[in-house]
Formats: sequence, C-alpha cells, structure tokens
Amino acid sequence: MVPPNSGPTIAEQCFGDATVSPELDWTHARQSLSGPGNAGMNIAYAAVDRHVAAGRGGRPAILSLGRRYEKRRLSYAQLADLSARLAAVLAAHGVGAGDKVAVLTGRSVELYVAAFGCWKVGAVYCPLFSAFGPGPLKSRLELSRAKVLIATEELYRRKIAAQRPALPDLQTVLLVGADGEMVETDGALDFNAAINAAQPAPILATTPEMPAFLHFTSGTTGTPKGVLHSHSAVVAEALTARQVFGLVPDDVFWCTADPGWITNTAYALIAPLANGCQVVVDEDDFDPRRWYGILKDEKVTVWYTTPTNIRMMMRYGAALARAYKENSLRVAASVGEPLNPEAVAWGEKALGVPFLDTWWQTETGAIAIANCPGKAKAGSMGMPLPGVEAAVISRDLSSVTPVGRADEVGELALRADLPSMFTAYMGEGANYDLSFIDGWYLTGDLVRRDADGCFWFVGRADDMIKSASHTIGPFEVECGLMDHPAVAEIGVVGKPDLLLREVPVAFISLNPGFEAGEALRVELLTFARQCLGGTLAPREIHFVDSMPKTTTGKILRRALKAKAVAEPEEDGEPLIVPVMAPGRFDDE
Ligand code: WTA
Repeated sequence: MVPPNSGPTIAEQCFGDATVSPELDWTHARQSLSGPGNAGMNIAYAAVDRHVAAGRGGRPAILSLGRRYEKRRLSYAQLADLSARLAAVLAAHGVGAGDKVAVLTGRSVELYVAAFGCWKVGAVYCPLFSAFGPGPLKSRLELSRAKVLIATEELYRRKIAAQRPALPDLQTVLLVGADGEMVETDGALDFNAAINAAQPAPILATTPEMPAFLHFTSGTTGTPKGVLHSHSAVVAEALTARQVFGLVPDDVFWCTADPGWITNTAYALIAPLANGCQVVVDEDDFDPRRWYGILKDEKVTVWYTTPTNIRMMMRYGAALARAYKENSLRVAASVGEPLNPEAVAWGEKALGVPFLDTWWQTETGAIAIANCPGKAKAGSMGMPLPGVEAAVISRDLSSVTPVGRADEVGELALRADLPSMFTAYMGEGANYDLSFIDGWYLTGDLVRRDADGCFWFVGRADDMIKSASHTIGPFEVECGLMDHPAVAEIGVVGKPDLLLREVPVAFISLNPGFEAGEALRVELLTFARQCLGGTLAPREIHFVDSMPKTTTGKILRRALKAKAVAEPEEDGEPLIVPVMAPGRFDDE
C-alpha cells in the first residue's frame, strides 16, 4: 500500500483523479479512460494497457482456478502482451474493425485474451453460452456472421464441427487445448501456438461509437436478438462498478456469470480491470462448498452473482455457511431476477456483508438501478444510479406518459443517453427504433416506484421466461421442438419454480400417427436437450388435444400458464426432468 501523503494512491492513478469520488461523472470517466492524444477510446486500452502505460503492469489482473484448483495467474502486462499477440493473429486472418469474432471457451484465461485481443484489433467480441446445444449456437453464429470462432477443442468438436459446412462466413477456427485431430481434419488452428508465434500488435484507435461486443438475448420471434454495444460501454461499466461496489484496485472481484451472459462481459471482464482490480475466474461448475471455499481462500472482497445461486447456497444450510464466515468480503450483489428479502437477510447473515440487488439488461450494458451500500431496501431493485434517469410510464405507439402516483405499476423507462446503451439490434423482428420513444428507452419490465423513490420489480410486460437468471424466449424453444416430426403445435410458457424462479414447460399437440405417452414424452425431452441444450430445453412436456387460441389464431399463453400451475394433466403426471444446478449449465 502507498502510505498517506506520498503521492497519488493507485485508486487515484487509475482514474487520474485526486478526489476518487464515487459520483464521478460520465464526462470525467470518459476522459480518464481514453487513450492519450488521438489514441481514441478502446476497451482494451481503458481496462488493460492503460495500467501498463502508467507503470502498474506488474499488478495481478487474473487468478483463474481450474477444475482441480490449478491456479493460473496473469499480470496486467502479461494480459496486455497475450491479447496484443492475438490481435496480430486475428489481423493476419483478415479480421478488421467491425468484424465479428465468436468465442465459445467457458470461463478461462483464454476468454480474457480472446476478448481483449478482439478489442485491440477493433473486432466485435461475440461470446456464446457453452450450455446451448448445436441448434441455438448455429443460429447465433449465423446471425453474427462471425468470421472467426475461438473455442475449446471439446466444445467445438461436440457442438460446432458437424455444422461447419453450413456456416459459410466462418473462415477461421482457433482451438484452445487442441489435441491435433481437429487441427488436422478440420483445418482449425491451435490458439496458443498461433499466439506464441505472433508479435504483439498495437491497439487500434477506435472511437467511442465503434462496435465492440455483441450479446444475444431472447426476442419475441423464434430467432434470438443480437444486441450490439460500442467501446463507450466501458465508461458506464467502470463507473457503475465504482458506484455500487466501491471498487478500488486492492479489491479481489469475483463475478460468477457465464461468458454468454452480458454480466460476464461487463462485470467479469471490463469493469473490474478498468478499476485496476484482480479478478477471480472459476473454470468449474457451481458447487456450494467450492464456492464458499473460493470466497474465503482467495480473499474475494466483492462478489457478484445471481439470486438463483444464492438460493442454491441457502439450501445447503447455515452450518456450511458458518464454516466459511471468516472471509474478506466487503460487499456482495446479485442481478438477473428479483433478490427476495429472505435471500438478502440470509446472505448478510451467512457472509456477514451487505447483499445488494442490482437491476439492468443486456440492452443497458451496465447497472442502471441498484441498492447501494448504506441506502439499500431489501426486496427492491433500489434507486437509479447517479446520471441515470428512470421513470414508470404508460405508453401508446408514439408517446409515453409518466404514471403519477407512488406504487402505481407501469413500464420501466430509462433516458436513452447512457454511455453503455446498446447501439443496434441484429436479427429479424428486432426493431431498434421501436425500443425508444421521445428519448426514453423502454425496458419491457413492469415495476412500481414507492414513496421513497425505490423501484420494485413486478414482472415482464412480454412472454419472456426468466429461469436461473436466463431470459428465455418461448418462441426459440418452440421452434427447436417443431423440428420433431411428432409435433403439430407447441406452446412454451414459464412455470413458477422455487429455486430457478421459472422453468420452461411445453404444451404439445401431436401430428396424426403419433401417440401421446411416456415413450414419446421421453423422446421429445431428449430431443430438446440434444438440440437446444439444457438451459433452453423444457423441463416438462404436456400433451394437449388442441392449443388454446385467440380469435386471431395466436396461442393463448395465459391459458397455458394457468394450465402449467394447475393440477396434473389427464394424460398422467408429467415427467419432470431433474433440475440442474444453475451455473452448472451443461447439456449432457
Ligand atoms: C430481469 C441481465 C428483477 C428483468 C443483466 C430484465 C431483473 C432482464 C433484475 C434482463 C433485478 C434483471 N430484479 N429482475 N435485479 N435484473 N432482471 O438482458 O426482467 O439477461 O429485463 O440482463 O432480467 O435480462 P438480461
């Protein structure tokens, strides 16, 4: 530690600001994070090379824990070097500004090298969920038109290799942990060998508006929506991490999110490194004992996870929690679904620190509403962060009207000028312009604001299913199952679940020649898991003679939802697939 009065502290150096106020404004943060002179704004510079340029390259950036706790560490200087070499490899394969690079590596050191390597060459980093099956992965690769895929050899072999001929845009595949076979038979390249042979490339001087990352979220059609973000997202991500978690460079930050989820990009990759912290990366799946152990042994000071994970840990009881109570935590927080007050209380008791709920979306790119230390209200989403204007509104096609009274339910709208606000949608049926009215971004979430100005989550205004913090589009699940010859019509809805909040369940009417029964039910469930993957596949299948419809022929989801929570079907007890531990998002 730097003793007092001996020059600026590391925290002050990181933002180039002597006051280190958590209320730093966007403009100030933008200046601190930009490159010198005409070097533009690039996430890789802001989060990694900026620290090296200021003489902090030797500080720890990443501690990655393998499945058997093998530790891999990278300093900021090492991450800067490896990502610059990857940038050179990508450039040599024709990747330039705006080109898409898909990444399917799971949580690992290579994920960081891949993301920052993409940003250095001006490419768009497109991470994919490793739990998704071949179908959803293919549709996302097609939608992004990725030129390059960086994947682990194992995931590539299991989920992509067979589809390669149907992906004409995909020119280059770089494999982590390549065993030689795919390199020989599939023309894939060995990621590490390619990096070792390359010379570091300089960072492209991108502008704040240039595209930087693309995440897929569920839309109201069968295909996913690609949500595009620009380099200026780093401004909001760095600053909000400061405002909510109070991040300083001495923090050890652990965000448990899967790389396919924007929470990983914003708060496992960008925000903690932009604040000069060390990140902990757990390469393994969810396991409560392991997680408590990591919190304690790796001296994690700030922890960001999901309510489902907390509920999972609650299930393992207070005795296990007590064994790990001596930890270094300062604050814990969650995102993705409401954090019920019991979980807040339990988290505070078990971990001995404030447990904060934060609200945001793939589209907002950074936390917009949150409980902050000292002003938290358990069960609520909290209040808008400094610089964020939020309103509860009602709307018609062209105008929005703020609702007047406290506690009245309406749609949550945000002023659209956040530096991390998405810049485009990719994909059919996703209309960027329809998301904005009169300078407000419309979130699709129903909320109420209490008399103290705290926001409370009420539900979604659309049919999206929230399961273990994933946003699942029923339409994508329906389209996946329609490929089975037995399925005539299908409706998928969310059924309440104590642990995961909701699980997708399917109602299916059959084509002639197919008989409803256990054998077909098992076949359809297996088909869904193979094609869609464990996260998207329905947990239950119910057979119906006909689908409830509106007069215009639309499936009446409300009626199906009521059916899902009602008594068991006439065709017998539905077969229930055992629930996977969230975070253990595999599809085997
Ligand atoms: C929901 C997540 C209640 C909400 C970073 C939102 C929440 C959707 C909360 C976005 C919260 C997120 N309380 N609901 N604290 N946080 N949500 O795009 O419905 O995967 O619209 O991004 O999750 O999910 P997404």
